Amino acid sequence: GLPARVRIHEVGPRDGLQNEQTVVPAEVKAEFIRRLAGAGLRTIEATSFVHPKWVPQLADAERLFPAVSDLADREGDAAVRLPVLVPNERGLDRALALGAREIAVFGSATESFARANLNRTVDEALAMFEPVVARAKEAGAGVRGYLSMCFGDPWEGPVPVEQVVGVCRRLIDLGCDELSLGDTIGVATPGHVTALLTALNEAGIPTGRLAVHFHDTYGQALANTLAALRHGVTTVDSSAGGLGGCPYAKSATGNLATEDLVWMLHGLGIDTGVDLGRLTATSVWMAGRLGRPSPSRTVRALAPR
Ligand code: HMG
Ligand code: MG
Repeated sequence: GLPARVRIHEVGPRDGLQNEQTVVPAEVKAEFIRRLAGAGLRTIEATSFVHPKWVPQLADAERLFPAVSDLADREGDAAVRLPVLVPNERGLDRALALGAREIAVFGSATESFARANLNRTVDEALAMFEPVVARAKEAGAGVRGYLSMCFGDPWEGPVPVEQVVGVCRRLIDLGCDELSLGDTIGVATPGHVTALLTALNEAGIPTGRLAVHFHDTYGQALANTLAALRHGVTTVDSSAGGLGGCPYAKSATGNLATEDLVWMLHGLGIDTGVDLGRLTATSVWMAGRLGRPSPSRTVRALAPR
């Protein structure tokens, strides 16, 4: 069966904007996040506390985060979770100083991407995360663990399922509350998704702690999402308007577009809390700021001409 409700983890302001050529001003990013919240999204990944030279597009995190953090203080159903990416203790200090309540570390299933993205081996990256996760939990913050290159790697090709399961296990053992399985370059197909989820269950990792993070390079992201939903996954990452990519992975294009996801979920009778009209209007507005049209098929179908 399919779930009655899906939690959308919106990554447009982080995964989307980190890869845009245009450096968007902090005020425009804050407006983007407010409009996404206005469209009903309740988990919005706001930014990253990484080295500003590595991701110049998000170098304004100290200005942006305080400009939106009131969204997390809203009462009840109106409260918006605002997770931020943090690679190391320096990043954690920056995030906690601004009152962040949810962080995400981001590991890799492959050595090539660990090197390209974090300047570390897989082991060194996990060692770097260990005190980050421990201290975040002491501070009462929720911790997500991303795992990139779960299906294929641009340098190494297909990635063995056992290799992915091994790093997932280690992220769980560090104390991550949730794992997001990244198809960073969008090469997965539905059978592969089901095989990985099954192997994770066999390794004792419950589906309830898993999220899926599909980039849409080969147009497979929706089909892969449906396979994950049928397996019991209820948290799906997507990016408004299909913004995104990854500056450190060649051949990574945008994430699954949130509008395309919402169109499918609502068609299946699955509740998301999202107002598709308001969301599409937000992506059209953002496309105007970026000076290029949204790649989302649903945005193009619904946008006024
Ligand atoms: P490094 O060069 O090895 O850094 O980079 P280091 O640890 O040697 O430190 C060098 C200097 O950087 C030091 O300064 C540190 O203080 C400073 P110095 O003492 O020389 O003056 N520094 C920092 N400054 C500010 N904030 C920090 C920070 N850390 C160190 N947090 C590092 C290592 C991890 C920092 C670097 O590789 C980095 O920032 N990488 C981030 C890359 C990134 O953000 N990639 C995109 C996100 S991942 C993604 O998109 C995939 C995902 O979507 C899932 C999927 O699709 O698969 C999540
Ligand atoms: Mg990504």
